[in-house]
Amino acid sequence: MHVLVTGGAGFIGSHTVAHLLTDGYRVSVIDNFSNSSPESLRRVANLVGKSPELYNIDLLDAPALKNVFESLRPDAVIHFAGLKAVGESVAQPLRYYRNNVTGTLNLLEAMEAVDCRTLVFSSSATVYGESTALPLLETTPRSATNPYGRTKLHIEEMLEELAASDPRWAIANLRYFNPVGAHESGDIGEDPQGIPNNLMPFVAQVAVGVREKVSVFGGDYPTVDGTGVRDYIHVVDLAAGHLAALNYLQGSKGAHVWNLGTGAGSSVLEVIDAFARVSKRPVPYQITDRRAGDVAENYADPEKARLDLGWKAERGLEQMVGDMWRWQSQNPTGFPDREFGTMSDQELNEFIRGE
Ligand code: UFG
Repeated sequence: MHVLVTGGAGFIGSHTVAHLLTDGYRVSVIDNFSNSSPESLRRVANLVGKSPELYNIDLLDAPALKNVFESLRPDAVIHFAGLKAVGESVAQPLRYYRNNVTGTLNLLEAMEAVDCRTLVFSSSATVYGESTALPLLETTPRSATNPYGRTKLHIEEMLEELAASDPRWAIANLRYFNPVGAHESGDIGEDPQGIPNNLMPFVAQVAVGVREKVSVFGGDYPTVDGTGVRDYIHVVDLAAGHLAALNYLQGSKGAHVWNLGTGAGSSVLEVIDAFARVSKRPVPYQITDRRAGDVAENYADPEKARLDLGWKAERGLEQMVGDMWRWQSQNPTGFPDREFGTMSDQELNEFIRGE
């Protein structure tokens, strides 16, 4: 089976590509490297002894996208590519709608043109908005509190309407909770540009000494210790969820939705403690004001994925932190900076194959 992965060089994408290749899938990746590096795929190829085929294409380039679908004719698509920073989306809403919504629309049209109608989409628990009815179920009403979240919501709706219009489509909306961790080798992991927005990469950078201290956004929430609680999920478990969904879609058309979370929450202070323990490094922190738009607590009800897909998260907080620490300590400044902008697709493919 031939799977095309958009955003396959990114954090969740690269771990999923590794899993697909290991399981014997043919994998093509399209990525514009706006927030990723081909280095991740070179390391994936090194780890699993097989390479994906790589295409440097932007989803906004509809003619190029159509061409690549015409020549590759994949059986299914896993769609990760998109912008994902909440604060940035508030400052640049049009860029978010164009990239995420128009990019997905272009992708769907390119798929349809070659009769490829199986899609796994990276949605997010952000579609539950500020819901306080915990645990969050797939049936919890959706809302959005920022443009990023609204792009995910619009795309979910677009996919549902598409599946309703034509019974040949098989679509999975996967709602991720908080993806963290890294491949157990420490060779691939999350490599945020600039100052990390998310807690775990920030804590990892403090532990490794790249940043001075963690600002804990709020110490007076009605939670176990006053700090925010989230459902962190190991990226390798998340990758496995995509293969389980893809497998399910082989036997079931229509639009489906699954939460991918562990069902258990951890507080900010629990995360900081776990990191200090595992890394044996001090992780200084300071409680500051709440961050606008944050909820006190959220965690998944992951039961639907267990029942339908036979999938559940296997890795707990200790392992998430341990694997993340391995990645961070082996790569304190992430993937090495290199200039890939001028490389042709052929050169990129030679690079990831180590030729
Ligand atoms: N936090 C801190 N300090 C930091 C960063 C975060 O205390 O420097 C706290 C937050 O207040 C929150 C928790 O750590 O309580 C987790 O914050 P993250 O930014 O790591 O994750 P969020 O839950 O806010 O955001 C995630 C995804 C978003 C998605 C959102 C809702 O990153 O893409 O879940 O599903 F929109």
